[in-house]
Amino acid sequence: MAGLAAGSTRLRMTHTGPWVADLGSQRLGRLFALSQMAAFPPGARTMSSTVLREFCEADAQEINRLAVTAFEEFGCNYSDWPALAAFYGKMSDLAKSGEIVVAEIAANIVGAVAYMPPHRGKAAYFDQAWPVIRSLVVDPKSRGVGVGRALTQECIKRARRDRSPVIALHTSAILKVALAMYLRMGFEWHHDAPAVYGVPYAVYLKKLLP
Ligand SMILES: CC(C)(COP(=O)(O)OP(=O)(O)OC[C@H]1O[C@@H](n2cnc3c(N)ncnc32)[C@H](O)[C@@H]1OP(=O)(O)O)[C@@H](O)C(=O)NCCC(=O)NCCS
Repeated sequence: MAGLAAGSTRLRMTHTGPWVADLGSQRLGRLFALSQMAAFPPGARTMSSTVLREFCEADAQEINRLAVTAFEEFGCNYSDWPALAAFYGKMSDLAKSGEIVVAEIAANIVGAVAYMPPHRGKAAYFDQAWPVIRSLVVDPKSRGVGVGRALTQECIKRARRDRSPVIALHTSAILKVALAMYLRMGFEWHHDAPAVYGVPYAVYLKKLLP
């Protein structure tokens, strides 16, 4: 697992600022750093305090609820939203073949993502050797404070851990905020994938420098 010793590190982030380690927290679970840590600038305001940790079975119901809630606003674009909602309502199943990372603010789950390592649990439109980011979701009430980017960055970190030269994902132009973020993070269109309930989707790839 990427990161630091078990149960002792908490991360804070500002809208624009660096990750900050606040050592000594007694929080349970295995908490870990997502990206480089830097000294907390004197006087800087902390907008939110986000902790990323590994998924555990007790999170399943909340993660499944969150995944459906995150996609609900796009439901009218899909020809069969109830079917897609049922799919997202089982997001926790991805823990069987991948690694779900959970984001918490003030001990509440606010986001999650599944990292699928090389040769595990991915659709046929991916090269099976590629690590893949799946089901990135952030609660609508907790958006815009860096949680989505942090979860994506954590997947990139894990792909590097797995010594992959690339990382892939599957998204759609209707998911405007997500796609724009991925492009800013260096993902590039690779090929079109089959539509999902009538909505065009494509595979995007990011090259990872050695
Ligand atoms: C996409 C999603 C995960 C982003 O989560 P988030 O926690 O709000 O994202 P962040 O706060 O880390 O912001 C990421 C970037 O998007 C920008 N952003 C966030 N909300 C935005 C909005 N409403 N409008 C425009 N830009 C926005 C941020 O400024 C940030 O920019 P940066 O790349 O320069 O850092 C979230 O909107 C979501 O759950 N969407 C629905 C599900 C989805 O589309 N998942 C992706 C599946 S492929």
